[in-house]
Amino acid sequence: MHLRGISLTTYKVQKMGVVLFCLVFLVGIIMDSKGVEGRKTRAVLKNFEYVAMNCRSHSASITDFGGVGDGNTSNTKAFKTAVDHLSQFESDGGGLLFVPAGKWLTGSFNLASHFTLFLHKDAVLLASQDMNEWPLIAPLPSYGHGRDGGGRYASLITGSNLTDVIITGENGTIDGQGEMWWQKFHHKQLKNTRPYLIELLYSDGIQISNITLINSPSWNIHPVYSSNIIIQGITISAPVNSPNTDGINPDSCTNTRIEDCYIVSGDDCVAVKSGWDEYGISYGMPTKQLIIRRLTCISPTSAVIALGSEMSGGIQDVRAEDIVAINSESGVRIKTGAGRGGFVKDIYVKGFTMHTMKWVFWMTGNYGSHPDDKYDPNALPTIKNINYRDMVADDVKMAARLEGISGDPFTEICISNVTITMAAKPKKVHWACTDVGGISSDVTPKPCDALADQGADHKTECEYPKDPLPIDDVKLQTCSYNRKRYL
Ligand SMILES: *[C@@H]1O[C@H](CO)[C@@H](O)[C@H](O)[C@H]1NC(C)=O
Ligand SMILES: *[C@@H]1O[C@H](CO)[C@@H](O)[C@H](O)[C@H]1NC(C)=O
Ligand SMILES: *[C@@H]1O[C@H](CO)[C@@H](O)[C@H](O)[C@H]1NC(C)=O
Ligand SMILES: *[C@@H]1O[C@H](CO)[C@@H](O)[C@H](O)[C@H]1NC(C)=O
Ligand SMILES: *[C@@H]1O[C@H](CO)[C@@H](O)[C@H](O)[C@H]1NC(C)=O
Repeated sequence: MHLRGISLTTYKVQKMGVVLFCLVFLVGIIMDSKGVEGRKTRAVLKNFEYVAMNCRSHSASITDFGGVGDGNTSNTKAFKTAVDHLSQFESDGGGLLFVPAGKWLTGSFNLASHFTLFLHKDAVLLASQDMNEWPLIAPLPSYGHGRDGGGRYASLITGSNLTDVIITGENGTIDGQGEMWWQKFHHKQLKNTRPYLIELLYSDGIQISNITLINSPSWNIHPVYSSNIIIQGITISAPVNSPNTDGINPDSCTNTRIEDCYIVSGDDCVAVKSGWDEYGISYGMPTKQLIIRRLTCISPTSAVIALGSEMSGGIQDVRAEDIVAINSESGVRIKTGAGRGGFVKDIYVKGFTMHTMKWVFWMTGNYGSHPDDKYDPNALPTIKNINYRDMVADDVKMAARLEGISGDPFTEICISNVTITMAAKPKKVHWACTDVGGISSDVTPKPCDALADQGADHKTECEYPKDPLPIDDVKLQTCSYNRKRYL
């Protein structure tokens, strides 16, 4: 595969060698004079800047590998050849693959280490509708089964065991063309689990930024068994009735920062996970050190942020702040049940503004949805130290529905400085609480007795950690893309 890329390069250099040399020499002079000639030349030698965890020494365009952006030709081979070719630079400054304006039809392909996939603003990656373009892969070890059953179709953009991998651009688009998959799912025509748009496994150092994802067949972004992840400036959209089109699902991941994202979808905007029942318990890999900030979410049938339901490896130290929710079913929702085991603890949430909600607070201790009948009903989750503060919500049907597990209550819940304005026709009961315990302060309407108000003399501010997480210290640098470096 490398040979083809190299021979392409060699061919171009041979063909254009002398001409190009002169152009490179000329471009500096012409660009200075900013004439009409200058613009023409820049189309050949395109330079621009972008922001990334790491810059790359080598770059190529998908067109160098036979890519055709006509929306009809399959580019799966072109992407594979391009990534293979650029992967030779893994230990030599890394490689960037540029996807220019156009509609680039493709099936599933892998990324490499020290690699950047960069989408031009008018580039659209179109997910193939041909089932042969979607290889089958094994279920995740922490799930035992594909989430829709059977094995799993590989995700559109994927990769395992990578170091330093970036997907970014000028807000170019990845279009999952999910309608075909949603129909097959509704009609029970699938024996295996639908693909995701982006899935990176066992990887360290991931950046996904400044791209738009639309119409995913199922989940949009799924980092799993990975660490040191920045997800920034992502727009995600799918019909609000599309099945399981979760936005961003960090799963058994450590040290993740999700910020400045806008998500409208048919399922949770962010769903924090860590494996499913007995498989997740035995894999035992939590999601921890997660920060979610400046998220805008529209999710009429699901949560802004869900913790679970697959949480059997544990979820710990999640910090969510500055979130806007519009027309969503619930704010931060805990989803678990007997059989899950694991824990959800040290959760800190502040600064939510919510308009038109079914529930502001929702905890579900009987979620069900088991992978098979081998789960242990005595594997009870530990849910504790859950903190919410500084929130306003209006047009709310029910303030809270908090349901722990009988004999396994959810404890150390703290809610402070929250003002909820009920809808014109709210549910009669504003707070319904069973098997939960904790405190509240400065909350309207008045919480249930299980979350006793501290009174005006003992105002409490629920905790929110002041120390930064290690991922906050990761600085992005300005990189320049320079087409001539590759040629
Ligand atoms: C995303 O784009 C914005 C606006 O163009 C820019 O300020 C920001 O640095 C970019 N961030 C990343 C991580 O690509
Ligand atoms: C689209 O691609 C198919 C298969 O590659 C080909 O048979 C067909 O002629 C193409 N159509 C157009 C309009 O290019
Ligand atoms: C990736 O790493 C995991 C965990 O170390 C290992 O089980 C798996 O076989 C590796 N996969 C590949 C494709 O190398
Ligand atoms: C990116 O594109 C989407 C879809 O066209 C748009 O809604 C969004 O505002 C764009 N984001 C930026 C930062 O330009
Ligand atoms: C209460 O929450 C609001 C945001 O909803 C915030 O502006 C205000 O500063 C908070 N008050 C206190 C005392 O922290």
